[in-house]
Amino acid sequence: MKRILTYGTFDLLHYGHIRLLQRAKSLGDYLIVAVSTDEFNKIKGKKSYYDYETRKKMIESIKYVDLVIPEKKWNQKVLDIKKYKVDVIVMGSDWAGSEQFEYLKKYCEVIYLDRTEGISTSKIKEDMRLK
Ligand code: CTP
Repeated sequence: MKRILTYGTFDLLHYGHIRLLQRAKSLGDYLIVAVSTDEFNKIKGKKSYYDYETRKKMIESIKYVDLVIPEKKWNQKVLDIKKYKVDVIVMGSDWAGSEQFEYLKKYCEVIYLDRTEGISTSKIKEDMRLK
């Protein structure tokens, strides 16, 4: 049983998110998604449209996802890897080479997947503002 873990806000769900989750799941058997809480988003300087409970429910309903856990702080990742017996951390390529994830290579495999071109939650918000 190969266990995969990924992190993100996953606010206005879009096909970039779905592709990321689909490819993450295809790397193993069990996909855990750590969804940023509203409090953690504040720390990151983000404000989501949907609150944590709503984002959690949306991500839980995706067929590639086996478990959703909260992402509450920057330094929980090593604990998550140990607690959930994680084999691979997957992140979008926007995080490639970031110290946030590079140091985790001591504990498990870290794989960066290419982002889907031309879509993001920020872009949807911006485009909607212009309508
Ligand atoms: N992601 C992706 N392709 C996109 C957008 C996001 O592969 N076009 C990935 C990110 O790399 C990350 C995960 O989806 O691993 C969750 O990203 P998140 O930051 O929640 O989504 P964004 O759409 O990038 O949100 P924002 O615009 O608010 O940064």
